Amino acid sequence: MAGKVKVWVTGAGGLIGNQLVQLAPRFASDYEVVGLTRRELDLTDFAEVKRLFNQQEPQLVIHCAAMSKSPACQAQPKLAQLTNVEATWHLAGLASEIPFVFFSTDLIFDGRKGNYVETDEPNPLSIYAETKLTAEKAVLKNPKHIVVRTSLNAGKSESGDRAFNEEMINSVRNGKTLQLFVDEYRSPIPAEVTAQAVWELVQQNASGIFHLAGAERLSRFEIGEVLEKYLPELNGKIVAGSLRDYHGAPRPPDTSLNCAKLQELLPFPLPAFSEWLKGNASKLV
Ligand SMILES: NC(=O)c1ccc[n+]([C@@H]2O[C@H](COP(=O)([O-])OP(=O)(O)OC[C@H]3O[C@@H](n4cnc5c(N)ncnc54)[C@H](OP(=O)(O)O)[C@@H]3O)[C@@H](O)[C@H]2O)c1
Repeated sequence: MAGKVKVWVTGAGGLIGNQLVQLAPRFASDYEVVGLTRRELDLTDFAEVKRLFNQQEPQLVIHCAAMSKSPACQAQPKLAQLTNVEATWHLAGLASEIPFVFFSTDLIFDGRKGNYVETDEPNPLSIYAETKLTAEKAVLKNPKHIVVRTSLNAGKSESGDRAFNEEMINSVRNGKTLQLFVDEYRSPIPAEVTAQAVWELVQQNASGIFHLAGAERLSRFEIGEVLEKYLPELNGKIVAGSLRDYHGAPRPPDTSLNCAKLQELLPFPLPAFSEWLKGNASKLV
């Protein structure tokens, strides 16, 4: 491995971290990738993180580990703060002299505008989004560091419950009907494309904020409709709903992302989700 750049990928047991590790031989062959799952290193064990960091001396950190589900963060705000903010802050501090990539979310926006660019004003509506925005601000104090804001990621995770397509299938298997909003918009993207784009970004020595999402703005209901064509288990299990009739915790109606800044750097086009599905739907099951 002499001469290769050693990189830590945290959250390697999760959806995107796993894709980064799997796709490294193809898109980042100059890197020696150390994928860290929670079992290998609990990022809230700050002393152990510091010890391993100093022992292994990575030259790049791609930080995917997080409490990534909004309802869990809402239910356990202290744990969300510890995991998403303090663990990030600690790791970014250890990585102060090297590039560091932090994964954030489209949900830092309140969804009243849509087609968000990197300079638009965030206004998080949930604990999850608040923790991500706080961590972003901490990470961006270092001009060498990168914040990648992504949207709904599709794919196949090792645990079978991380990608939005997996959550939908699991709900249906548990006998539920999916009520999907016709007026809540996102920019879905395959996790493999997210991983490819991040490998490209780090190889270009980029820094600052980048929006990384699919090229197509789709409502939750439209996402269900396109998936249904390829995932027969969803047939007859999707019903249209509207935010107008919803009375739970606040939900941003349109957090679609404008990814033009990143697209200029990429040698491949960010795909429209419905187009990508035509040749790749088998990767979701
Ligand atoms: N996937 C999306 O649609 C999406 C959208 C927007 C932003 N993001 C962001 O992108 C990043 C990657 O997302 P993802 O979908 O890959 O998330 P994920 O599948 O939930 O993976 C996150 C991983 O972090 C691990 N983790 C949690 N706490 C940890 C700790 N204290 N120490 C070590 N590892 C810990 C989790 O382990 P356990 O499995 O043991 O919990 C999990 O394997 C996250 O920051 C997420 O917030 C994702």
